[in-house]
Amino acid sequence: MKIGNVVTKNNIFLAPMAGVSEVAFRSLCSQYGAGLTYTEMISVKGLYYNSKNTIKMLQRGEEEKLCAVQLFGHEPEIFKSVIQSGVLDKFDIIDINMGCPAPKIVKNGDGSALLSNLSLAKEIIKTCVSVSKKPVTVKFRMGVKAGEDISVEFAKMCEEAGASAITLHPRTRQAGYSGKIDLMALKAVKNAVKIPVIASGDVVDKQTLDGVLSTGVDGVMIGRATVGHPNIFAELQGQNVDLDKKIIAKKHLDMLKKYYSEERVILNLFKRHAMKYVSLDKKGVALAQSLKEIEQILGI
Ligand SMILES: Cc1cc2nc3c(=O)[nH]c(=O)nc-3n(C[C@H](O)[C@H](O)[C@H](O)COP(=O)(O)O)c2cc1C
Repeated sequence: MKIGNVVTKNNIFLAPMAGVSEVAFRSLCSQYGAGLTYTEMISVKGLYYNSKNTIKMLQRGEEEKLCAVQLFGHEPEIFKSVIQSGVLDKFDIIDINMGCPAPKIVKNGDGSALLSNLSLAKEIIKTCVSVSKKPVTVKFRMGVKAGEDISVEFAKMCEEAGASAITLHPRTRQAGYSGKIDLMALKAVKNAVKIPVIASGDVVDKQTLDGVLSTGVDGVMIGRATVGHPNIFAELQGQNVDLDKKIIAKKHLDMLKKYYSEERVILNLFKRHAMKYVSLDKKGVALAQSLKEIEQILGI
């Protein structure tokens, strides 16, 4: 797949997920064959004001073949200044979040709030495109209220503003994660624009992948189904590597240890996945106080 001047090896990507798509997990997914990874959403304002915790989120893994940095914000000038500062230069693509439904994001005018303000959304994209040496892409939902579908209009606006690709999670903000993704919306968007269209939502196996690709979209990103299952990328490409969950869990933990030094941080990041690596003793995993304890429970 070609996104601007960036050519991906395949069209199955790791979705941006706050608290999940950190550098170690992205690196692991990349090793298992994700064609592109996305950072979790990062506050462009946090970067502008040099927030230490926000800057930390800009780590790029050496195993990551291609990585997009995802930003959220609503002030074109702030985006401009951050892109011009060069802090994002290590990433291959700049993605703008215009779909996040979380109330604390929306109330600031960020994420899916931009679905209700197309002129500002356009100005943000145009500004980023004008100063970025990297392709600029946009991820959004199909509307705000249940039943609303502005996806075609929004997609065309993104294309006009210069976006190199778009990702649609075809649910409204109000729908959250309920119901099924709207395959017709994906089809309509794909037919409405010339830039690549990536679908996000509900891909969990080969059957659901084929279902989404049957709409004609160029690629998919996978979110929740990767948690405790980073090898899904290999499986979907017909490679039966590391079938033993313990081997995957061990690789994951080793990757976390490579990128983080604080045990507390590693433990918190790993717990979410560990519960899925083994179904043995979920409670034990959740209550584990140390890496040693979690390694014993998992038998790794
Ligand atoms: C824990 C979690 C965190 C997420 N964080 C982000 C985010 O930072 N940026 C974003 O664009 N989408 C985010 N999403 C949405 C996912 O990227 C994706 O669009 C959504 O989960 C649907 O795909 P899935 O069914 O494959 O999970 C998040 C989803 C989850 C479950």
